[in-house]
Amino acid sequence: MKEDQPSVTAQRVAMRRAAHQLFDDPKVFDDPVALRIIGRESASGLQADPRQFETTPLASYLRAFVAARSRYAEDELSLGVRRSVGQYVILGAGFDTFAFRNPYPEGLLRVFEVDHPATQTWKRQRLEEIGIGLPDDLTFAPIDFETQTLEEGLRNAGYAPDKAAFFSWLGVTEYLTTEVVMATLRFIASATAGSGVVFDYMISPSLLSPSQRSRLDAFSQQVALAGEPWQAFFDPEVLMKDLRAMGFGCVEDKGPEEINAMYFKNRKDGLRVGSLSHLMKAQV
Ligand SMILES: C[S@@+](CC[C@H](N)C(=O)[O-])C[C@H]1O[C@@H](n2cnc3c(N)ncnc32)[C@H](O)[C@@H]1O
Repeated sequence: MKEDQPSVTAQRVAMRRAAHQLFDDPKVFDDPVALRIIGRESASGLQADPRQFETTPLASYLRAFVAARSRYAEDELSLGVRRSVGQYVILGAGFDTFAFRNPYPEGLLRVFEVDHPATQTWKRQRLEEIGIGLPDDLTFAPIDFETQTLEEGLRNAGYAPDKAAFFSWLGVTEYLTTEVVMATLRFIASATAGSGVVFDYMISPSLLSPSQRSRLDAFSQQVALAGEPWQAFFDPEVLMKDLRAMGFGCVEDKGPEEINAMYFKNRKDGLRVGSLSHLMKAQV
């Protein structure tokens, strides 16, 4: 990210989630706050021209993936809450809206939004502008992953290390260095039993076909131009091995075939995810 500037990509993915609400039927991820959170001007622009992102063949893959990863994280969160999870830590939250539509009874699930301070300030201003109040169960934990540890950020925010927590980390790992991603995952692996994480990550270019590689290059140029270049890429097999070595018990990787089978089966519109990213679940 550009120093002291909020994440441009946070708004971009929020726009895609909002677009998903407007024209994908059935919805994979139902988010009644998605349109409001993008801001009044963007919301009316999107309503006037819901297909404004459909400018490249990549657009529908991206929208599908953004919807699927949030759905998967919140499905896994609900399984966690049924077990023992009482804390939900949203890493690199951007314009995620879970905290403002938290379906659990008050006091059951504390929500921590961890994000770069500049993005968090932008989100708080946006919430004020659109008239969404801060729920009592929500705590903001501003950190820069590259210079501060998650442990430090959560400690300052009142996270309870003796209670199980579920972490989601969506659309963020690629913007960090591999070392920071691994250190953060090691911290999560040390959380109380019953804790878990869902995150997505980009596939190592060396594992891609030439056509996938050229799609990756095109997309990676766009984010680099926005000042948020991709840095971390992973090999699924190696990553799963590393997660097990950190102490995670159950580790599950979901590639495009599995994600499409889970969420995009039998659709008339052909919406589906592409092949550049995977989803990973790991439980303590
Ligand atoms: C593409 S957005 C994803 C936002 C959100 N998770 C979503 O899916 O809508 C990337 C997020 O990562 C955060 N991020 C990127 N680099 C960061 C860093 N070094 N420290 C903290 N947050 C960072 C940005 O502030 C932004 O919120």
